[in-house]
Amino acid sequence: MSKKRAASPRRTDDLPAPADRRRFRTSLLAWYGRHGRDLPWRRTDDPYHVLVSEIMLQQTQVDRVLPKYDEWLQRYPSLSALARAPEEQVVKAWYPLGYNIRPRRLHAIAREAVASYGGELPSDEATLRSFKGIGAYTAGAIRSFAFRQRAAIVDTNVARVLFRVFVGTGDPKRHAVKQRLWRISEALVPRRHVFDFNQALMDFGAMVCVARKPRCLVCPLSRICRAYPFDADGQ
Ligand code: ADE
Repeated sequence: MSKKRAASPRRTDDLPAPADRRRFRTSLLAWYGRHGRDLPWRRTDDPYHVLVSEIMLQQTQVDRVLPKYDEWLQRYPSLSALARAPEEQVVKAWYPLGYNIRPRRLHAIAREAVASYGGELPSDEATLRSFKGIGAYTAGAIRSFAFRQRAAIVDTNVARVLFRVFVGTGDPKRHAVKQRLWRISEALVPRRHVFDFNQALMDFGAMVCVARKPRCLVCPLSRICRAYPFDADGQ
């Protein structure tokens, strides 16, 4: 078999039909209006606050991030306040979230923002992705949550939702499939309500379309879902 990659990133022939995109957006946003979580980083579009929350959430569960997020913003209320702090103090302040590279990266981003971007977080994808610690997902989150740009996100939860609804079978870990999930997410993200839509995708993956025993019986997307009814033993 040829090892050539079949999918180019710009393919459009394997994207959801317009009617399914509309159904997906409408059902998801309606579900979010009723069931979405009220989280503190959803009451702000301050780029620094979004950055802090998303870096914290990269490897830590929401419940554990909640108390730390407020504490962090009190201690370091802005990119410039964070940039002024000594690195080892920042690492220590982070410690309850685990000993790892994230605080050093966050600190380096703050210093770079002060040194090169007037103390602001840049809003364009290429510059955001040039920072260590900001990958494709985090760049999409910052652009959509802080700058309301029509930017897609795919993290583990979102990938699971999009894979089940729009792909259904196959290996979700294949490179070509991951690329397709990004293109699907890009095709779905609405011009308006991008903030709520992307937050909703994450909540839906965390609360309904969960990895084991997804709650298909209450799922508002089951009508269009290619994996419905999900067979936990068969998949
Ligand atoms: N995980 C990563 N980002 C998140 C967000 N904004 N809300 C909930 N969970 C998340």
